[in-house]
Amino acid sequence: MSRAANGPERGLLCALDDVPDGGGHGVPDVADVADVSDVPDVADVSDVPDVADGKTDLAANGTATGAANGASRDGIDPSCAIVIVRRGDDAWAYRNVCPHFSIPLNYEPDTFWAYDAQWLMCAHHSAMFRFEDGMCVDGPCEGAALTAIPVRIVDRKVFKRDNEEET
Ligand code: FES
Repeated sequence: MSRAANGPERGLLCALDDVPDGGGHGVPDVADVADVSDVPDVADVSDVPDVADGKTDLAANGTATGAANGASRDGIDPSCAIVIVRRGDDAWAYRNVCPHFSIPLNYEPDTFWAYDAQWLMCAHHSAMFRFEDGMCVDGPCEGAALTAIPVRIVDRKVFKRDNEEET
């Protein structure tokens, strides 16, 4: 699926099915995408491995989205500026910045660890963040929270919600 900056696809982050059920997936922030032709297509859901043993390793499938841009800016890989977590038909999005050391939650490109379809784990010091609100419930930054990116899901696509849109 390609992103478009304007029109009905404005704010599109990815297809819901690009996010493994019970796992996480990194995407660029649409606000950072100056030229949509620079953005690689999001991986097909068939490329994403099934959740096994309560955790998902997206590195195993060589997902193009995470590794495409490579270079980081202030330690943040722009191709994974936002992490989306999913449980069934629900999805939540957060800035990919751990509140512990202000570094990305992932260590490998587009590789996010999730447990029991409930918690997103930082790869560095194992802080566990609740899918629903990004709150750290266990780990060195317990009580801190990820920065939420408001999203809406339409036709199984995840869109970044505009500031002026109702919450
Ligand atoms: S940097 Fe995330 S838990 Fe330490």
